[in-house]
Amino acid sequence: MDGMHANSPHARDVKYLVHQQTELKSYREQGGTLMARGNGIHVIDESGKEYIEAMAGLWCASLGFSEKRLAEAGYKQLLELPYYHTFFDKGHLASVDLAEKLLSVAPASMAKVLFQCSGSEANDTAIKLAWYYHNAIGKPEKKKIIGRERGYHGNTVASVSVSGQPHMRAGFDIPLPMFRHTDNPNYYRFHTEGETEEQFSDRMAKNLEDLILAEGPETVAAFFGEPVQGGGGAITPPRTYWQKIQKVLKKYDVLFVADEVIAGFGRTGNMWGTQTYDLQPDMISCAKALSAAYQPISALMISDKIYQALESLSATNGTFGHGYTYGAHPVACAVALETLKIYEERDIVGHVRAVSPAMLDGLGAFADHPLVGNVRGIGLFVGIELMQDKKSRTPWPAERKVGTMVQDHALKHGLIVRAIGDRIAFTPPLVITAAEIGEMCRRFGLALEDARRDLKV
Ligand SMILES: Cc1ncc(COP(=O)(O)O)c(C=O)c1O
Repeated sequence: MDGMHANSPHARDVKYLVHQQTELKSYREQGGTLMARGNGIHVIDESGKEYIEAMAGLWCASLGFSEKRLAEAGYKQLLELPYYHTFFDKGHLASVDLAEKLLSVAPASMAKVLFQCSGSEANDTAIKLAWYYHNAIGKPEKKKIIGRERGYHGNTVASVSVSGQPHMRAGFDIPLPMFRHTDNPNYYRFHTEGETEEQFSDRMAKNLEDLILAEGPETVAAFFGEPVQGGGGAITPPRTYWQKIQKVLKKYDVLFVADEVIAGFGRTGNMWGTQTYDLQPDMISCAKALSAAYQPISALMISDKIYQALESLSATNGTFGHGYTYGAHPVACAVALETLKIYEERDIVGHVRAVSPAMLDGLGAFADHPLVGNVRGIGLFVGIELMQDKKSRTPWPAERKVGTMVQDHALKHGLIVRAIGDRIAFTPPLVITAAEIGEMCRRFGLALEDARRDLKV
């Protein structure tokens, strides 16, 4: 941070904060980008430079960065009842209103909801409930939890254990012993020569079945999957994948938790990824767009089958011994309720469907670019995989950091995308217009050309 004024925001940032998911030494030496304001789909840094936020922050700011109705809903609730909880036979009106509204738009099989503050906590709760459920129904040996390589379910000790992110395990003694992982569903990257999407999905389901059999089906409690994989690289599942995976789960009586933390609330062109891929989960976790990210809140929705088991074991134990001080926080509930009303009034799902072709075609056009191996997406969710050799699907050596190179050039051009290895993710705010999508693609094209020059391709 040479030459930086000691009291500048950058100098104070480096002095006081530990940044998350960041290489700390180089951050201390070079600093980063500090945002000051938001405007529609844009964020503006402290120097006044404006960026298109093509990741909606962390896949979450669904209504962009300047929705006044959400600010007003929060303010009103702060004046009325700024805090209350749902422990010890108590509750509050904002949580009742939100629970009713959320379940009214949820897939029909969901009966009740528990509120937390983050996606990680929703998934952590789901893991606890899978254990509690099996204890309640007299199958206490069913305890193992299966996730997928490169799956992303959060950062609590349990939710990161079900995740399959190597960099989030390194140095943390993760995963916990009862967690297992099955294949990553990136068809483009992992299919064998001539293997169709359907055959690839058969192989994925067979490998899952083999894993369950090797562990002993009587020991496997639950499987976690994101309808579309986010942190693994913005990966849409291959054809017939979910149908085949669910068949295996049903066969061995394994609970299915659909992690809708990214897919929920319109991202895939339906309210839920569960609808897009015809899923029948026992529990659904959601967060992020639940409040358009204006307040930290998540929900775990559960089927009646799960709820009945919780009720019976809580009667035996004398209580349902679980909860968070800030779970169902009234201000977060009020903002989330207003968010759901806005989705309905503005037909956000219809809007996603209307502008999705502009994004799929606009980014799809880069499939011919010499650096791009594959473009695949759904709704307003796209992943682009960069390749050194498209024909043989040979990736760039990791140390060249080609994804980061493209991401950094994009930033220079006023575009925020996310490099996940050499996959580039795009999940802009759901309110993005077709014209804004055009500008997003134009800026991305400039970044790709800059990287091409650097790489001398
Ligand atoms: C699919 C998925 N699940 C869970 C999480 C964790 O959510 P949070 O960061 O709110 O704890 C994330 C975060 O990106 C996610 O993408």
